[in-house]
Amino acid sequence: MRLLFIGDIVGRSGRNILLDLLPGLRKEWKLDCVIVNGENAAGGFGINEQILNDFLNAGADCVTLGNHAFDQREALNFISHQPRLVRPINYPQGTPGRGATLIETEAGHRVLVVNAMGRVFMDPLDDPFALAADEIAACPLQEACDAAVIDFHAETTSEKQAFAHFVDGRVSLVVGTHTHVPTADHQILPQGTGFITDTGMTGDYDSVIGMEKEEPIRRFTRKVPGGRFEPAGGAATLCGVAVETNRAGLAVKIAPVRLGGRLSQARATFWDA
Ligand SMILES: [Fe+2]
Ligand SMILES: [Fe+2]
Repeated sequence: MRLLFIGDIVGRSGRNILLDLLPGLRKEWKLDCVIVNGENAAGGFGINEQILNDFLNAGADCVTLGNHAFDQREALNFISHQPRLVRPINYPQGTPGRGATLIETEAGHRVLVVNAMGRVFMDPLDDPFALAADEIAACPLQEACDAAVIDFHAETTSEKQAFAHFVDGRVSLVVGTHTHVPTADHQILPQGTGFITDTGMTGDYDSVIGMEKEEPIRRFTRKVPGGRFEPAGGAATLCGVAVETNRAGLAVKIAPVRLGGRLSQARATFWDA
């Protein structure tokens, strides 16, 4: 299968490049499954139902979230009837929505998608390692699904790498999100799981992690908030990771994807015609 995961869409410029490029990429690269992190899609904070539907209509099969999952409070309601929207699995019991979902792609492939949040320098949540392990044990590769993707939404590189090695060989891809900065360590781990510590955001990189620079600089230098965080509005770079899996559901090819905007460009050249 050909999988594309696209990192945190930040604000309007992030949404625009996703909606511009995704339909073409799906065709050109013959993608089987596209997963998008949408936790910052609405003004940098959370997601609303219109934006979610726009992403699904543009060719996303599933949308994951993170610590900003419910910044737009309407998500607490519509997440219940949106089976392709996934919030962190280790949120407290009783939180609306689901932390894992089994989707069926257009071609009939079954893909397990799990969203989990790290706990270092983040909210104190339930153990993401144990909960993710339960989920993949209940839906093993080849038997119950053709591919399995975990969006591990975390601050520290160490927690993300430990998690990836913990599930190595049991899922197709572990993709780190949340820091909004892409790392250069995309690789296939020894047991066959594709991994990147962070795939980076899809947004304007002339910014502080996607936000206009002035307010973050003010808060660091003066310690006095002067205004709101606003998403930076310049041209976005679409950042993601491309993975091809074999019949066992394990990764055989992996490449970073960076298209548009200010960052150095990268394509999944093995899929280019
Ligand atoms: Fe984010
Ligand atoms: Fe986040």
